[in-house]
Amino acid sequence: MRPIVLSGFMATGKTSVGRRLAARLQLPFVDTDEELERAAGKRIADLWREEGEASFRQREVDLVERLFAEAGPRVIAYGGGTVTSRRARHLALERATTISLTAAPETAVARASASGTERPNLAVGGDPIARARELLEARAQAYAEAHATLATDGADMEALVDAIIAVVARDPIVVPLGTRSYIVDVVNDSPATLTDAIAGAAPSSLIVVTDAHVQRDRHEHVAAALGALAIPQTTVTLPAGERHKTIASVATIWDAALGAGVDREALVVGLGGGVVGDLAGFAAASLLRGVRSLLVPTTLLAMVDASVGGKTGFDHPVGKNLIGAFHQPTAVVVDLAHLATLPARERNAGLAEMVKVALTSDAELFAELERNAAAAARGDADVLLPMIRRALEAKVRIVRDDERETGSRALLNLGHTIGHALEAHGGYRTLLHGEAVALGTVAELAAAARLGLTPQPLVQRTQRLLTRLGLPASPSRGEVGASWSFVGSDKKRLAARIRLPVVSAPGESRVESVALEAFRTAALGALD
Ligand SMILES: NC(=O)c1ccc[n+]([C@@H]2O[C@H](COP(=O)([O-])OP(=O)(O)OC[C@H]3O[C@@H](n4cnc5c(N)ncnc54)[C@H](O)[C@@H]3O)[C@@H](O)[C@H]2O)c1
Ligand SMILES: [Zn+2]
Repeated sequence: MRPIVLSGFMATGKTSVGRRLAARLQLPFVDTDEELERAAGKRIADLWREEGEASFRQREVDLVERLFAEAGPRVIAYGGGTVTSRRARHLALERATTISLTAAPETAVARASASGTERPNLAVGGDPIARARELLEARAQAYAEAHATLATDGADMEALVDAIIAVVARDPIVVPLGTRSYIVDVVNDSPATLTDAIAGAAPSSLIVVTDAHVQRDRHEHVAAALGALAIPQTTVTLPAGERHKTIASVATIWDAALGAGVDREALVVGLGGGVVGDLAGFAAASLLRGVRSLLVPTTLLAMVDASVGGKTGFDHPVGKNLIGAFHQPTAVVVDLAHLATLPARERNAGLAEMVKVALTSDAELFAELERNAAAAARGDADVLLPMIRRALEAKVRIVRDDERETGSRALLNLGHTIGHALEAHGGYRTLLHGEAVALGTVAELAAAARLGLTPQPLVQRTQRLLTRLGLPASPSRGEVGASWSFVGSDKKRLAARIRLPVVSAPGESRVESVALEAFRTAALGALD
C-alpha cells in the first residue's frame, strides 16, 4: 500500500479525517504542520512571521522529501499551502494516493476561527473570507491535481473515510494538468469501472465511437458497462484501420452527434485502438467548440500511449497526423480484458511504444521488458498489467512537464520520424504503426550511434529486445531510403534541421537538433 496524502485548504478537515483514517487502517499519522513545529521548536505562525513564505515552503518541501524517502505506508496531512510547491505536489501524486479535501470558504473560516490556531496567511488584508476566496482561487490548479476530491461541508466522518479507502483500493493514476487533470484507471475485467467513470462525468448524453472489429469482439463487455447507465446513447461504428483515420470518419461522428442533438454536456466515448481514440478525441475537440471525451483503449498501443496526453487528429494524404488538436480526455479507463480478443500481431505492436517510453525515460521498465519479454509477447495479463501502469506513469510525467510539446515531450517521438515515413511509404497497409515504430526506433538509434550520440551496443540490445517481443527489428536500407521523402513532411522538422530524440542509455535521453542531411546520411550509412 502507498502512503495517503490529505491535501486541501486550511480547516477542510485534513487533520481530523487523517487521524480517523489512520486509526481505521492502523497506520501512523503525520501532520506536516505539527512536524514542522516540533522540528523548529516554534509555532507555524512565528516561523511564517520570522522567515516569510518562501522559506517556510522550503521547510515543507524538505520535510515531504524526507517523509517519502522513509519506507512504509502512513497517512500524511499536508499543510494548506504545501501543494503549491511543485515538488511536494508531484511527490504526493507519484508516491502516494492524494486526496483533496474541500469546504466552502465560509465553512473553512468558521472552522479555523473556532479552532483558535493563529492563521497568519488568513489575516492578510483583514477580511478572512475574502482572503480565503483569494487563496482558493490562486491554489485551484494545485488542489485539482489529486486522485480524488471530496467535499467535507456537512459530510459524515466515517463516510469520508470509506470514500478515501475506496480510492486507495482503486489505485488510479493521475494526469496532473491543473483543473484539466484526469484519472486513468487500470483494471482487469471490470466493466463497472467504466460505468462509474461515465456516471462520474454526469453527461447529458453519450456518443460512443468505435470501429467494426471492436464492435464485433468487445460488444458484450461494453454492453455490461453501458447498459447500467440511464443516459441517452448513440453509437457510431467506423470502418476499422489506419486507412480510415480521415476527415470523412470525423464527419461521420459529427453527423451522428449533431443528428442526436448533443449539447455541451455530451460525452464522446472513444472505444477502440489509437485510431478510434484520435478520431473521437478530435471530434470531441471540435463539436460545439469542445465537448468532453472519455477514452477506453482496447489495443495495447492505445493503453500505454495514445489514450493519454490529449493529442487528437487524423491523417492527410501528405502524411500522418498532420491535422489535429490538443484535447485532453476527461477520464481514461484501461481494462486489460479487451486484450483477450486483440490479435497477437496488434498486441506486440503496442509493446514497441512501451520499449520507446522505456528507452527515453524509464530504465527500470526497460529492464522489466527484458526480463519478461517472453511472457509479454504471449500477452500474459499478470505480467502486462504492472508494465502498462509503469509505461503510463512514464508518459504522464512527460506530458505533465510539456503538454504542448515545446520541449521534452518530443522525446516520445523516438522511432517516429523514420517510423511514420515507413508507414506512409507502405500506404498504411504493410506495417502496423507499432511495427513501423519498432523499425524506426532501431534506424534512429543506429543513425544516432553513427553520429556519436548513442552507444552502439544499445542499438543491438534494443534489436534483441524487440525481436523477442515479436517485432520487426531490422530496417532495410532500401526501404528507409525509399520512404525518405515522407521524412521531409514530418511535423518535427524545422527547416533543414530535425529535433531528434537521442538516447544515451536506457531511460536517459534528450532532444538534439540535427541537420536533416546529416541524419539521412547517418541513417542510410548505418543500415544494410
Ligand atoms: N494520440 C496519441 O498520442 C497517439 C499515440 C500513439 C499512437 N497514436 C495513433 O494510434 C494509431 C494506432 O493505434 P492502434 O495500434 O491501436 O491501431 P487501431 O486503432 O487501428 O487498432 C488496431 C486494430 O485492432 C482492432 N482492435 C482494436 N481493439 C481490439 C480488440 N480489443 N479486439 C479485437 N480487435 C481490436 C482494430 O479494429 C484495428 O483493426 C495510429 O493512428 C497512431 O497515430 C496516437
Ligand atoms: Zn506511436
